[in-house]
Amino acid sequence: MAKQEDKFKRVISHAKEYGYVFQSSEIYDGLSAVYDYAQNGVALKKNIREYWWKAMVQLNENIVGLDSAIFMHPTTWKASGHVDAFSDPLIDNKDSKKRYRADVLVEDYVAKLDNKIEKEVKKAAKRFGDAFNKDEFLATNQRVLGYKEKGDAILKRLGQSLEKEDLADVKALIEELEIACPLSGSKNWTDVKQFNLMFGTKLGASAENTMDLYLRPETAQGIFVNFLNVQKTGRMKIPFGIAQTGKAFRNEIVARQFIFRMREFEQMEMQFFIKPGTQLDWFKHWKETRMKWHLSLGMGQDNYRFHDHEKLAHYADAATDIEFRFPFGFKELEGIHSRTDFDLKAHEEHSGKKLQFFDHEDNKSYVPYVLETSIGLDRMFLAVFSNALQEEELENGSTRTVLKLPAVLAPIKAAILPLVKKDGLPEVARKIMDDLKWDFEVTYDEKDAVGRRYRRQDANGTPFCITVDHDTLDDNSVTIRHRDTMEQQRVKISELKEIISKEVSMKSWLMKM
Ligand code: GAP
Repeated sequence: MAKQEDKFKRVISHAKEYGYVFQSSEIYDGLSAVYDYAQNGVALKKNIREYWWKAMVQLNENIVGLDSAIFMHPTTWKASGHVDAFSDPLIDNKDSKKRYRADVLVEDYVAKLDNKIEKEVKKAAKRFGDAFNKDEFLATNQRVLGYKEKGDAILKRLGQSLEKEDLADVKALIEELEIACPLSGSKNWTDVKQFNLMFGTKLGASAENTMDLYLRPETAQGIFVNFLNVQKTGRMKIPFGIAQTGKAFRNEIVARQFIFRMREFEQMEMQFFIKPGTQLDWFKHWKETRMKWHLSLGMGQDNYRFHDHEKLAHYADAATDIEFRFPFGFKELEGIHSRTDFDLKAHEEHSGKKLQFFDHEDNKSYVPYVLETSIGLDRMFLAVFSNALQEEELENGSTRTVLKLPAVLAPIKAAILPLVKKDGLPEVARKIMDDLKWDFEVTYDEKDAVGRRYRRQDANGTPFCITVDHDTLDDNSVTIRHRDTMEQQRVKISELKEIISKEVSMKSWLMKM
């Protein structure tokens, strides 16, 4: 656990030190759970967004984009159920005065059981060596089965209590498990209460004429209310999808995990409109497709898992999370929900407008069902960044900090380094940079010894360093150094574009899907 916490602290400090993520309004001591993306962070975020957009919109002729407003008519949120049901169960510790999400306290308890299982697996793998069969071990080891059974029973009871709104039982569960406040160790809890997560604001100039609004808590509703506009103007036929990326706002109770849970964050959502009755086939399709997208980035199959929901949201008839192994354990990265016709029907009722599709094949109109994929851009950023940050022991006994970002997402693709600041080398390096900058984000660095510059670029996540030396002046060749292997190659300047392009082009990465 301490190791996990150390790793997470390193992630946060590295993100700051290398210009990826800053605390918002830091000079005023910051604002809790609100962050700013710095020079490198904004580029990494843009690349992740683009990687998603290409996979969802550009490569699917039946999915189109949208950019709806953050402010929406307040009835939207009545119709969607957010006014009545978008709340978290909160509990306060009477001694530390700290507020927690009751369900998260219980889930963290279960995560500790999962950690114990992982420890057992590691121990057994060490003991049995090559003969170790992980699946068999998980299915037969009594201690592992005990942890698993206990965890499953706890989550089942939690799911049922939340479903029935039985908050007294959620408190009873916390007490039975003897869960203590992580800060003070106290077990002196208040009752569990529901807390609505939407931020309210007002529209209008004078006190008499204001209208109460909400900052949107998800981008999805902007898609639903535009369903018919897009379908008609785009002459879309079912099945078709509408995708958008944009800010969402939630007054989160537990907001301690850096950019994992923020109060202002960005979502990348796609609503796929389908014929009623086909939802389970599409659910399976999008589960597989989205997992392939994640795996195409090469961050390791073992770092992902599905978590099918016991407790379904008020709008869903099937739901799963794609969970990622963050530095603090497996947590939700993306949600895939079969939302039925809940949203469109609710908007029909509240607006009095029909939101239906006329199916020429069946010669009838219906309210489409919806399959949703929804991923947090900031959470994806944290997954990519934390997975990339590594400390490596080198052969000479020294260590290097390297940010092994997938090259396709790296903010800067190549650094151009003149070996020395004289003899015409900077001029050649600048010329190379001026040529490459039309195709890639590149940077120029002439300060310090070249070894130190390599380390700086490693820590920054730059996949290539291109060094210009005295031989370059004679033979137009440079040294290209690969971040992950530290391998160095002598190549012609004229070959650089092709070499870099092969490694960083979105096409070659997305083709792995
Ligand atoms: N439209 C469905 C929806 O909003 P959700 O599971 O509440 O579903 C979808 O959110 C995704 O948005 C999550 O999987 C997560 O990646 C991201 N997300 C949700 N709340 C977040 C927060 N407070 N901070 C950062 N990302 C968040």
